[in-house]
Amino acid sequence: MTLKAWTPSELRSLRKRATAWYDSFGRDLPWRRTRDPYAIWISEIMLQQTQVATVIPYYERFLKSFPTVGSLANAPLDQVLQHWAGLGYYRRARQLHSAAQRIEKECAGIFPTDWQTVHALPGIGRYTAGAILSFATDQRLPIVEANTQRLYARLLHLDDDLSMQSAQSALWQFAESVLPTRHGSGHVNQALMEIGSQICLPKEPACLICPLRPLCPTFKSGLQARIPRPKQKKSYTDLQEAVLLIHDREHRWLMRRSSERERWAGLWDFPRFDITHCESELLVRSNLKQQFENAYECAIEIGEVMHQLKHAVTRYRILLLSFRAHLYGTRKRSRFGKMETQWVSESQLDQIALCASAKKVWQWLKRQH
Ligand code: ADE
Repeated sequence: MTLKAWTPSELRSLRKRATAWYDSFGRDLPWRRTRDPYAIWISEIMLQQTQVATVIPYYERFLKSFPTVGSLANAPLDQVLQHWAGLGYYRRARQLHSAAQRIEKECAGIFPTDWQTVHALPGIGRYTAGAILSFATDQRLPIVEANTQRLYARLLHLDDDLSMQSAQSALWQFAESVLPTRHGSGHVNQALMEIGSQICLPKEPACLICPLRPLCPTFKSGLQARIPRPKQKKSYTDLQEAVLLIHDREHRWLMRRSSERERWAGLWDFPRFDITHCESELLVRSNLKQQFENAYECAIEIGEVMHQLKHAVTRYRILLLSFRAHLYGTRKRSRFGKMETQWVSESQLDQIALCASAKKVWQWLKRQH
């Protein structure tokens, strides 16, 4: 199949139709009311992997607590992670924090507006740099993310596997060619992204109300279901994990901070172990006892299963069992091998940055009182 070659006058028409539609029907989203690159940056990072409706309250809370680069740079990482709890993909929050510290140090706390500097910041790729700078300062920078990628593939009649380098290169080239030469790139980018997310849907795109329909080769050929080419089905890995619910006499719970090498790096969690390969409950218990005693250097008795929940993270589907457990000997202990641990009171548990599944376990535990 050959790609559609867009003429300058068709591109002009595309811009005009897209922006006219956007001005009438685009959603009024909080990050579209500002030209502050810092605020737009926060929104773009939150919107990676997360739906608009979920992001809105997080975005508003985050900007209320951290209204400037400086306030974010100077906040403790724990406080930033706490604002992120529930959004998932916590690396985004850690990178946001470290990028803010770099801007504070190297750019006097002013969000940079040149592409090179922005693109070099942690967590900012080609798309995000283009989005921030075209929306905030109207620079002529192309964007390709999930929604525009689908729209552009259809506008080009591109039926290749979009993960191929050659397909990506055609998409970025097209993304640049649609931008006006003088001003209005931010507006065009927003408009096309909105059409991608609201009209040019993966399944059953709303072609009948699409402002770009007269220009769209995929509408003409009727190949919307084959362009872009559907991705291979995602394969999941099933895991079983256990957390241990251990409290002291003052009803403080034993919590541990996830190390840098773990999925939830930096977040607090109950003592957690992988039990995927244990076949019986008896085996699970002895395995847990052994794993705990090795890692925490403290004898333990594993009690009954109190609760179970299912939890999906990226490509993992986790069945999480919560076991009651008792430490032998004194419960006054505060050091547990090399683990970073803390006895946390119930009121503090509502304050600290827990990983999402620990938060669910804690919500359940609270309801048991
Ligand atoms: N997804 C990523 N960026 C977005 C934006 N600015 N508006 C709506 N959805 C988005």
